[in-house]
Amino acid sequence: SKPLSIAVAGLGTVGAGVLKLLEANAGLIAARAGRPIVVGAVSARDRTRDRGIRLETLRWYDDPVALAADPGTDVVVELIGGSEGPARALVEAAIAAGKPVVTANKALLAVHGAALAEQAEARRVALAFEAAVAGGIPAIKGLREGLAANRLSRVAGILNGTCNYILTVMREQGREFAEVLAEAQKLGYAEADPAFDIDGIDAAHKLAILAALAFGRPVDFGAVHVEGIRNVTALDIALAGELGYRIKLLGIAARTPGGISTRVHPCMVPVAAPIARVDGVFNAVVAEGDFVGRVMLEGRGAGAGPTASAVVADLIDLARGRHTPVWGAANGALESVPAEPMERH
Ligand code: HSE
Repeated sequence: SKPLSIAVAGLGTVGAGVLKLLEANAGLIAARAGRPIVVGAVSARDRTRDRGIRLETLRWYDDPVALAADPGTDVVVELIGGSEGPARALVEAAIAAGKPVVTANKALLAVHGAALAEQAEARRVALAFEAAVAGGIPAIKGLREGLAANRLSRVAGILNGTCNYILTVMREQGREFAEVLAEAQKLGYAEADPAFDIDGIDAAHKLAILAALAFGRPVDFGAVHVEGIRNVTALDIALAGELGYRIKLLGIAARTPGGISTRVHPCMVPVAAPIARVDGVFNAVVAEGDFVGRVMLEGRGAGAGPTASAVVADLIDLARGRHTPVWGAANGALESVPAEPMERH
C-alpha cells in the first residue's frame, strides 16, 4: 500500500540516526507498519556536511517551518530541539496544517505541552513523543499502554545520562565533578548547553512529561522542584558508599496527601535497590501501580541509535493508523483524580 512519507527537521545525531535506521531495517519496518516508511523531505542548517547518508534525492528546505507545508509529506518529524524558535514554530505549523508530528523534543513538551496538546486534540492530529523521555526506553508506551489498567502512585527515574555518567565516574575513580564533566561532554550526550544536564533541567523536562502521563494532568514544568549535581563532591559519594548508599540524580513524581509532587535532586539510594545499579549513561524509569506493583525499565537514554529507535516506533504507530490522544491513557480519558493542586516549591 501507499508508503508513509515523512519530513525530517534537524539532521544532527538523532536525525541522521533516524534516516540510517529507516534504511537499515526497511523491510521489517514496512512489515510491521503495514507499508514502507520513506523520507521525502529534510531540513537542516548545513547542507554540505557529510552525515554518512544520501540526501540528493530528498526535497531540501532551508527553513524547517516550510516542511509543514511540503505537499508530499504525511508526517513531520521534529528533531531540532529547544522549547522555542524553529522547533516550536514547526510543530505548531504542522498541527495547524493537520499533519501528525513525531518529536524527540522534551523541552518543547515540558514547557508548551499543555498548549500543544490542546491544539493537536482540537484538530485531531497526532503528536507522538516516545523519544522525548529516556531515549530508547519505551517509557511513554510502557506507562500509557502497558500499565494502562493501573492507578499509578509514583513514577521515578534516572532521566539524564550525562549526570549518571558523571556520578558513576566520580564514584569509581574518586574524581571531582569539574574534571569529569568535560569527559561526559565528549560522549556527545550532553545538551547544547550542558547546564541543562548538570543543573537538572533536562531531567525535569522529562519528569514533567512522565508526571502528566502518569497522573492524567496537563504538563506543568513550573511545578517541578529542580536541583542538579554541581555541588555533589567525591567525598559525598565516598561517604554515602560507606553507609551503603549510591548518590543518583533522580526525578520523582508521586501522589502525596497534598497533591502531585514533582522533584529532581540528588538522592541517596540503598546499594541493593535495582536503580542503584544503573550506571554510566544508562537511564531507568520506575513506575508503581496498584495492581502491577513496581516495574523498572532500563536502557540507553540518549544517542543516535536508542533515540532513533523510539522515533521510528512512533512512525510505525502512525503508519498503522494508531493515534493516542496526547496526554491521555490508552483509552483517551484523563484520570479523574480530585483536583489537588500541584505542590509548589
Ligand atoms: N542530555 C540528555 C542526557 C540527552 O544526557 O540524558 C537525552 O535527552
